[in-house]
Amino acid sequence: MALRLKDKLGRKFDEEIRFFKGWISNTKAVGAILPTSGITARRMASVIDPQSGLPVLELGPGTGVITKAILDRGIRPEQLYSVEYSTDFFLHLTRTFAGVNFINGDAFDLDTTLGTASDAMFDCVISAVPLLNFPMSRRVALVEDLLKRVPPGRPVVQISYGPMSPVVAMPGRYTIQHLDFVVRNIPPAQLWIYRRTH
Ligand SMILES: C[S@@+](CC[C@H](N)C(=O)[O-])C[C@H]1O[C@@H](n2cnc3c(N)ncnc32)[C@H](O)[C@@H]1O
Repeated sequence: MALRLKDKLGRKFDEEIRFFKGWISNTKAVGAILPTSGITARRMASVIDPQSGLPVLELGPGTGVITKAILDRGIRPEQLYSVEYSTDFFLHLTRTFAGVNFINGDAFDLDTTLGTASDAMFDCVISAVPLLNFPMSRRVALVEDLLKRVPPGRPVVQISYGPMSPVVAMPGRYTIQHLDFVVRNIPPAQLWIYRRTH
């Protein structure tokens, strides 16, 4: 019995080591050196309206810190759709958060990635995709695609590490609001909200 537990813990430890090696060897796609802090994750999840009855869309969940904060807002796992590009993170997430609709795919191609949920309306979008690694035209296209998937006025929240909004202003197309600057994050994080203007 004790031996089986030791085996199990040993396997789990091996998995964690492999997981973090993957993180370190792939920092460009990940876009951050450490997981998001709990404070940042809770601030991002604070925009959710749990009374809306609509599902929530998360992009780039990584290790799942923000996923946990979303679930802690009272969102049922089946009401959360979460798109992760890295298969290592995806497998780790599916083992950690039972019932969440994790999809191993590309946030920049949501019509394909979301499959049967591609026509769904979401309460809001919470994104940790490393936008600064992509050209501006793709960032704008992503935000506009996301805004079509939430009701008018509802937020698309994005974490970023530069001083400016990672998505340039497009007057008349969407608004940009600075939600917060979270110092207790490594590196300190800027949170931005995009909303439809019509
Ligand atoms: C800054 S990390 C997220 C950190 C996460 N909040 C955490 O605490 O672990 C960015 C995440 O976005 C994922 N990602 C990068 N490009 C993506 C894409 N095109 N579609 C979906 N996920 C993507 C990365 O694999 C990584 O998990």
